[in-house]
Amino acid sequence: MQKLVINGGKKLGGEIVLQGAKNAALPIIAASVLCGEEIILHNCPRISDTYSAMRILTYLGCRAGFEDKNTAVIKAENVSADGISDELMREMRSSIFFLGAVLGRTGRCRITLPGGCDLGPRPIDMHLSALRKMGVTIREEFGALNCTAENGLHGAKIPLSFPSVGTTENIMLAAVLAEGTTVIHNAAREPEIIDLASFLTACGAKINGAGSGKITINGVKSLYGCEYTVMPDRIACATYLACAAAAGGELVVSDCRPSDMESILTVFEQMGCILHTTGEKIYFSAGRPLKAVTPIRTMVYPGFPTDAQAVIMAALCKAKGTSVFAENIFENRYKHVDGLRRMGADILVEGKVAVIEGVNRLYGAKTDAPDLRGGAGLVAAALSAEGTCEISNIHYIDRGYEEIEKVLSSVGADIVRI
Ligand code: UD1
Repeated sequence: MQKLVINGGKKLGGEIVLQGAKNAALPIIAASVLCGEEIILHNCPRISDTYSAMRILTYLGCRAGFEDKNTAVIKAENVSADGISDELMREMRSSIFFLGAVLGRTGRCRITLPGGCDLGPRPIDMHLSALRKMGVTIREEFGALNCTAENGLHGAKIPLSFPSVGTTENIMLAAVLAEGTTVIHNAAREPEIIDLASFLTACGAKINGAGSGKITINGVKSLYGCEYTVMPDRIACATYLACAAAAGGELVVSDCRPSDMESILTVFEQMGCILHTTGEKIYFSAGRPLKAVTPIRTMVYPGFPTDAQAVIMAALCKAKGTSVFAENIFENRYKHVDGLRRMGADILVEGKVAVIEGVNRLYGAKTDAPDLRGGAGLVAAALSAEGTCEISNIHYIDRGYEEIEKVLSSVGADIVRI
C-alpha cells in the first residue's frame, strides 16, 4: 500500500505545466469507440482513470495505449457488442460513457452499474431514461443492464430535470450516429462538454450549442479519425493553486485556461492572493495571512465546482475568520473533513453546510484519502502543516492527478511517495 509523506511548512515556488483534463479525456476516450479510424489524442493525462478507460477499450476489442508521454493512440476498428465486465465497470464512474458510445456504434451493450468515488447516491436514471427516448430497450437481468436498440437509435427531444454532466455527454455520444436530430434541453454547460463536442466535430459529427443549455445533434452516417488535444484540467489547476495558497509562495501555472475558472479564481482573490492571468498562464502569489471568504455554494458551471470544494476548504483552514460552504451537488462530499480535523482544523459540518473557523496552525497527522478530490485537499492542508503528515489510500488521488508528488516537489514541496 503506497502513501504520501509530506513535511509541511515549505513555501512553493516555480512553474507547473498543467496536465490535460481528466473529465474531458474520459468521455473523449469513450467517444473513440464511435470512429473506426485511428484517433490520436494529445495532452491525455496518464492517470489511473484513463488507464481504466483504455482497459475497457481493449476489452471491447479496440487498440488503445499511450505512444508518447501524453499522446494516446486509439483504433476502434472492431467493437464487441457483448458488453463490459463488471470488474471494469466498477473501476470508475466514467465507465458509464461506454454505454452511449457502444450503443451508438453497435446498437447493443450490456453493462453493470458503474463504480467511482463514494460521494453519496450517484444514480444513472437520467442516462437510462434519455437512452430509452432514443429507442433503447433496457432489461435488467441478474444485476446487469441489457440494452438494445432493435431498430437503431433515433434522435429525440430530451429535457433534463437537472443539467447532469455525465447524462449530457452520454446523450451526445449516443446521438452522433443516431438517425435524425437530438435536442438536449437544460444541458450541462461545463467546459468539458464543449471539449467533447469539439472532439466529435473534429471526427465529422454535427453538434451545435455545446456550452449552452440547448445542444442539437444531427446524426451522421459515420465518423472518421482525427488528431485532437485534450483541454487543460481546471480542477488540477485549482488544486495546485490551493496548495500554493496553503503553503505560501509564488507559482506560475502554464498550459491552463483561466477563462474556465472564474468562480474559483475569485475565491483565491477574496482570500487575499494576488493573481495575474494571461490566455494560458496564471501567475499566483499567496496572500499572507489568508482571509476567510464569503459563503461558497457549489453549483453547476459557471458556478463554483463541487470538485474544487475540498481543496479550497483545505486552503481556508488557516485563513483568518469564518468561511462557510454549502455543497449542493453531491450528498456525501465532506469526507475529507475528518482528515483535516486530525491536522487541527476547526470545521463543523451540518448537513450540506460546513463552517470553517480559521486556526493558527495545522500539525502533522496520519490520514486516509477518502476520495479523489478529498485526498487532494488533504495534500494541500499537509503542505501547510507543522511536522509530518502521512496520507494513505492514495490510489484515489492517482485517479485524477498525474504524479502529484513529482509536480509538487518540482516547486519546492517536501513530499514523497513510499
Ligand atoms: C461529473 C464529473 C465530476 C463532477 C460532477 C459534477 C466527470 C467524469 N465527472 O460527474 O467530477 O463532480 O460532474 O460537476 O465528468 N444524477 C442523478 N441521476 C443521473 C445522473 C446524475 O440523480 O442519472 C445526480 C447525481 O447524483 C448528482 C448530480 O446529478 O447529484 C450531478 O451529477 P452529474 O452532473 O451527472 O455528475 P457526473 O457526470 O457523475
